Amino acid sequence: MKKIAGNPYIIKENEDIFLDSVSLDEIINKFRTPLLILMESRIRDNINTFINVFNSEFDNFHCYYSFKANFLPEICKIVHSEGIGAEIIGLPELRLALKLGFPSNKIIVGGPYLSKNLIELSIKNRIKEIIIYDLNDLKKVNSIAQKYGYIQDICIRVNSQKYKSKLGIKLDRKKIKEFAKIYNNYQNIKIKSILSHYTTQMNNISQFKQNISSIAYNLHLFSEVGININNINLGGGFPEATIMPQNQLKLIAMKIKSLLKEYKVDFKKIYFEPGRYFLGDAGLFITKIVRVGENRWIFLNIGNHICPKFAKCSLRFYNASQINEPHKYKTSIAGIIPTDQDVLAKDYFFTENLTKGDKVLVTNIGAYCLTFSNRFPYLLPKIFLISNKNINLIFDPSTDGDFSLN
Ligand SMILES: Cc1ncc(COP(=O)(O)O)c(C=O)c1O
Repeated sequence: MKKIAGNPYIIKENEDIFLDSVSLDEIINKFRTPLLILMESRIRDNINTFINVFNSEFDNFHCYYSFKANFLPEICKIVHSEGIGAEIIGLPELRLALKLGFPSNKIIVGGPYLSKNLIELSIKNRIKEIIIYDLNDLKKVNSIAQKYGYIQDICIRVNSQKYKSKLGIKLDRKKIKEFAKIYNNYQNIKIKSILSHYTTQMNNISQFKQNISSIAYNLHLFSEVGININNINLGGGFPEATIMPQNQLKLIAMKIKSLLKEYKVDFKKIYFEPGRYFLGDAGLFITKIVRVGENRWIFLNIGNHICPKFAKCSLRFYNASQINEPHKYKTSIAGIIPTDQDVLAKDYFFTENLTKGDKVLVTNIGAYCLTFSNRFPYLLPKIFLISNKNINLIFDPSTDGDFSLN
């Protein structure tokens, strides 16, 4: 038995491949490619690893799943059943979280655009915190909270100071004084937390360090104007679990703890908002080679419309039809969008023989592929969830139309 892509749920036994014990051949014989497969056991494992690692380092650790990573209701249900909270950016996600029964005190809502309806639904449902990315939103939240006779807890997203980052409020000594003046006029909001999310796919401790330094700097500014903030939220940004295995995650968690001490960051609770870590390696595409071109170019029956570069996944490609052949021959992989820009990988190590019709596994696509996918007019793939060693259809484009939330 050998793991494929380092994933304990994608196993090769002689010629056969199993996805959480379900035979790949069985799937391929029954259904037409391309298919998107998600594996419930892997999602649960990833959640448990994350929770155990951070619980062992921090007494007051809270976790909110970033819905945008994968908002399929069947996926969010799994996350909910593990007792994780929800980090929400818009109205459709908030409606879904409430419908699935996420408790209000485990929902945090925020983003670069807070519509009146989103703020209103958040306040009416007494969600835990509204996250503010823009000073002007403080006024909006305050006036809606006032209308409902409520004091809303707030989290301030500060700019992480990553080069060219536009998200979050950029503060300095002068601006914090103006901020305090405005804030003190508002009676219906209370700042409880501060958030800094640095970037995605962080596999280097220096990136976590930059984020903590941004939190420390901003907390200091707030305290200088008499605003004392209890809780810190370090966002998400962890890579797929196969890319950052448990021992490495543990080292990161320990380092985060020691950096917080080093930077003298005082806090009551610490929050994280992982998305990719839970879902990334729980998803894969089953595709096939539809054309073999010159200079070792192959074309798959997926493309950037459903496997977009924007999703920044750690893509891995395996020729499932020749799985025992060495994957050591440089091959370039294109998608089916009629543009030369639709490149999935260049000079990727693949099998020597490239045969039209070969089935190809594309791993680590569970997070952000659906989110960043577009409406290029190709059929959407069927989506299956493997649970308890059974394969269940959770999205069928011919009956469900689209997987968008509304
Ligand atoms: C504020 C915030 N929190 C959490 C996340 C989730 O990040 P990831 O899926 O990389 O863990 C993001 C992603 O962009 C984010 O912007």
